[in-house]
Amino acid sequence: MRRTSSSLALALGLILVTLASHCYGQLSVGYYKGKCWDHNVEEIIFNVVKAKFAKDPTIVAGLIRLQFHDCIVRGCDASVLLDGPKTEKTANPNLSLRGFDVVDAAKIAVEKICPGVVSCADVLTIAARSSVFLAGGKWYYVETGRRDGLVSRQSEALANLPSEYMPVRDALHLFASRGLSKEDFVVLLGGHSVGSTHCDNFKHRLYNFHNTGKPDARMHTGMLYALKKICPKKGGSNSKVYFKHNPRNHYRIDNGFYKHLLVNQAILEIDANIASSPLTNSIVKNLAYSPDYFRNRFGPAMVNMGRIGVLTGNQGQIRRSCSRVG
Ligand code: HEM
Repeated sequence: MRRTSSSLALALGLILVTLASHCYGQLSVGYYKGKCWDHNVEEIIFNVVKAKFAKDPTIVAGLIRLQFHDCIVRGCDASVLLDGPKTEKTANPNLSLRGFDVVDAAKIAVEKICPGVVSCADVLTIAARSSVFLAGGKWYYVETGRRDGLVSRQSEALANLPSEYMPVRDALHLFASRGLSKEDFVVLLGGHSVGSTHCDNFKHRLYNFHNTGKPDARMHTGMLYALKKICPKKGGSNSKVYFKHNPRNHYRIDNGFYKHLLVNQAILEIDANIASSPLTNSIVKNLAYSPDYFRNRFGPAMVNMGRIGVLTGNQGQIRRSCSRVG
């Protein structure tokens, strides 16, 4: 039943995208309509992501994170996709990014039918939306019409990517500087309901929280015990831990993440912080109590994120291959 209604929503979404015409600056919903004869660019990209998802459902997390890491540094200009020495890709927090191959495959598929028209920044945005839907999230209309950037610097990624130790106040400031509200920030962190992290990103919470020599007192005792087993004090830094505690549904995007936060089962410090900070705690509670609130708000927050620092008009270029300028 759920599958039927999801397929219906997808079909309707893909048809309606050709009719809808909301605009934001020079971005618009359905921008590619009529630009690739009668081909549906969004459907082609969706099908590439879906084929990958069938083999590896965890890819949805990789693609959602990839869009975030693209947009927060230099705007949504596909700068994170560029290869080369000292590009954003080479920055330490970006070494665990996944999904480049899927973006490349989607770009190749659209280039075949429509060369030089669809930007990599838009391919990534559409791939991330496809991921949210495949992960059980609500379909949302994406704005397109972005162009690709020509510059990608490791130093900018290091300076702009948020750290997991960041106080909530600083994170809110960072997001506000990109035009995102407090609610956008808390809702977007719901991206952490899918995918995984590695011990070295939260080990300090298990053994030596902010130089106290003790674990983070906010952490649920049972979870602390379980995580210590996976991440021993010495070694194991690269062991993988799924954000979702149930390994069978770690690729389903839903408000379970916020429920876990309220019972002290956050894994990353930033996630624990949004639950305990008076600045964001009430939003976390509302999201935990209402699955529909999260479901209806995640897509619009992704759209807002997709507006950061976009290149349009004569700016930038349409890359032929996403990993290099030209
Ligand atoms: C202050 C903001 C944020 C911080 C500090 C942060 C930090 C992190 C860290 C440390 C990881 C684990 C990386 C690894 O060990 O491989 C991670 C994973 C992830 N993040 Fe965030 N994040 C933030 C915001 C966001 C936002 C806004 C989104 C989505 C819109 C997002 C989506 C994801 C996803 C989906 C993963 C899992 C990736 C995978 O499984 O490959 N994050 N994040």
